[in-house]
Amino acid sequence: MDDALLLVDRHPDRVIAQLNRPDKRNAIDREMIDALHLLCAELEVEPRTLILTGSGDDFAAGADIAQLRARRAEDAHRGINAMAFIRIHELPMPVIAALDGYALGGGAELAYAADIRIATPRLKIGNPEPNLGIMAAAGATWRLREIVGDGLASEMLLTGRTVTADDALAVGLVSGIHAPGDLLSAAHAIADRIAAADPLAIRHTKTALRAPRDAHPAIDGDLQAELFESPEKMRRMTEFLERKGRR
Ligand code: COA
Repeated sequence: MDDALLLVDRHPDRVIAQLNRPDKRNAIDREMIDALHLLCAELEVEPRTLILTGSGDDFAAGADIAQLRARRAEDAHRGINAMAFIRIHELPMPVIAALDGYALGGGAELAYAADIRIATPRLKIGNPEPNLGIMAAAGATWRLREIVGDGLASEMLLTGRTVTADDALAVGLVSGIHAPGDLLSAAHAIADRIAAADPLAIRHTKTALRAPRDAHPAIDGDLQAELFESPEKMRRMTEFLERKGRR
């Protein structure tokens, strides 16, 4: 099941997950959400960087509208997409979203759940949910605001305006724009930089980045304390100093 709707390519330091429903512009349905949960379970046990991408020319044009139409109040309370995207956001290692074409509705919210977003010039990202009689309830109202600020997030969510790749870059919604043929290699280059660092230092940095404001600076001290005692810190710093002839 997950092999069909979510193509997963596993490597020792990273996993590439491709939303794979190109005939429906990768609209996110329940089976895809189940596959994302399975992948999260795997990455929680064996942490690796995750690259999320789409098939065809799009990332994802939203949650599956045919399934959304059938959902009722109790489904809303279950937060079917929201819970999966929270789990992705909380993965121990970084999540990189490589965005092409449409990233709308739930597709945009999946992208907002990533730590790093890059795009092609074809990106159109936003949340048109109110046009369908619903609201964006899988992360946009808090994550988009955290990423781009209250002014633009409010405008996007209240008007349904999608933004282009250039606009997204200008406001920090994506951190780079690459030709469609280079998108995945650009995501791998980011994963390479992450892989060159100490995985525990990366994990602790992500934990601190995601901690609530009032947890700082205590949480930073606790996490750094563990790193200060780690053999890998000693090894990396000693190697640096020896390379500089400063032992
Ligand atoms: N859910 C289910 N199916 C979707 C979908 C979604 N969110 N987005 C696209 N599709 C399907 C279309 O129904 C169509 O299927 P079909 O070929 O069986 O008819 C197929 O994907 C291709 O989309 P189509 O609409 O023909 O492409 P287009 O280039 O004319 O338009 C979009 C592209 C993205 C502008 C348009 O598909 C759209 O508006 N999608 C919905 C966007 C949205 O509101 N998302 C928020 C949902 S929470």
